[in-house]
Amino acid sequence: MRLVLLSLLLSFSQLYAVEKSDEIQKNASFEKILSELVSRYESPSLPSPQLDEETLRELQNDDRMFVKVSASDKKERTKLLELGLDIVEIGKNYVTGFIHKNDLPLIESKSFAVLEKKTFSDWVKQFEKDFPAADSAYHNYKETYDYLVQLANDNKDIASLFSIGKTIEGRDIWVLRLNSSAKGQTKSSKPGAIFVGNHHAREHLSNEVPLLFAAYLLDNRQNPEIKKYLETLDIYIIPMFNPDGAEYDISTGKYKWHRKNMRKNSNGTIGVDLNRNYDTTWCRYGSSTSPGADTYCGTAPFSEPESAAMRDFILARKNIKTLQSYHSYGGMMLYPWGGSYDPVPNEKDRNAFIKMADKMGELTGYDPKQSSDLYAASGDTCDWAYEKAGIFAFTTELEGSSFYPGAAIIKGAVDRNIKAAVYLLSMTDNPYK
Ligand code: ARG
Ligand code: ZN
Repeated sequence: MRLVLLSLLLSFSQLYAVEKSDEIQKNASFEKILSELVSRYESPSLPSPQLDEETLRELQNDDRMFVKVSASDKKERTKLLELGLDIVEIGKNYVTGFIHKNDLPLIESKSFAVLEKKTFSDWVKQFEKDFPAADSAYHNYKETYDYLVQLANDNKDIASLFSIGKTIEGRDIWVLRLNSSAKGQTKSSKPGAIFVGNHHAREHLSNEVPLLFAAYLLDNRQNPEIKKYLETLDIYIIPMFNPDGAEYDISTGKYKWHRKNMRKNSNGTIGVDLNRNYDTTWCRYGSSTSPGADTYCGTAPFSEPESAAMRDFILARKNIKTLQSYHSYGGMMLYPWGGSYDPVPNEKDRNAFIKMADKMGELTGYDPKQSSDLYAASGDTCDWAYEKAGIFAFTTELEGSSFYPGAAIIKGAVDRNIKAAVYLLSMTDNPYK
């Protein structure tokens, strides 16, 4: 009897060993994608694009100004957002950002000192040399999709790929689902986690991090810790939430500094800020009602197909417990509220938020804080997910000092954020533990 058992055990472990080495070979994707990345940014193969006439004309016609404005605290920053300033950098006593020409007088009249201003086409000149040929390591929409397909195909037993809905231009918003028992749209009662990137078009690094996190999980699926999460959790990864905007941003071979989706607004301007369009104190703080503004909240909560798709996706899955929304930049680990300066009222939740943000801050080197400490902004993903679905939702502002930090930043950002993401998985079964 014992012998039989022993030989059974032996053959089982042999079987397992074969399957394991097979698996590792088959799924050597994370290392592969990383080394591809490195070689692509060390020797970008694309020729430097010539600025054709149309691109030049578009640049000249971009009626945004780049400005530096005095502002020394979160309340002033919030006010500036409301006046239509798209804040890109925060200094001690100032912020820089974009503002539409027509909105600039408003800022000046509200006793903010405008310290510097340049037209968009003058300001953007400083970047002409580097971008975006040198950034071919970043994944565009098709490359992202192809990569997700490959991951799903190589891991058919636990991975499935489907669309959570269409964007305003009709692109699919792809989600890679990792679950050892439920596939596609089938519901699961296992605790769920969502990782989403690229709400904002120009924040391309925020697509890379969740995309490579997916590859990492599948590559390391035999690692006992990862294996446990893959068996016990329901994991959703949506690297490119705003593909229309992301594609538009790179469509001319020259970055457009585009933030919003591609909604054609009634006054001819483009885009709604998807991170102001969720139904939670919608359009109250840090949002603009002016359609041309980069913080435009839209005509109504969930007026946009992208945010509405996220709403429907989350509300249909009561098992979701945690969410991470990647943005760039600034190196911050943010938790609700973002739309109010008050702390979240539930003490147990608040402590859990703080504990998890602190830990993820430690793992990434990012600064953990309440979202509104940066500035108050109503209608963001995380406030809504927490308020309406009780999800422990975080916004990561990835590292870097520009929306276009170059491709060499990807590897470090991915490595650091994988650690935080794995930690978030470890908390997904019980965020209070
Ligand atoms: N920078 C991002 C944005 O403006 C994230 C903001 C986080 N939320 C907040 N309320 N501060 O959308
Ligand atoms: Zn963002």
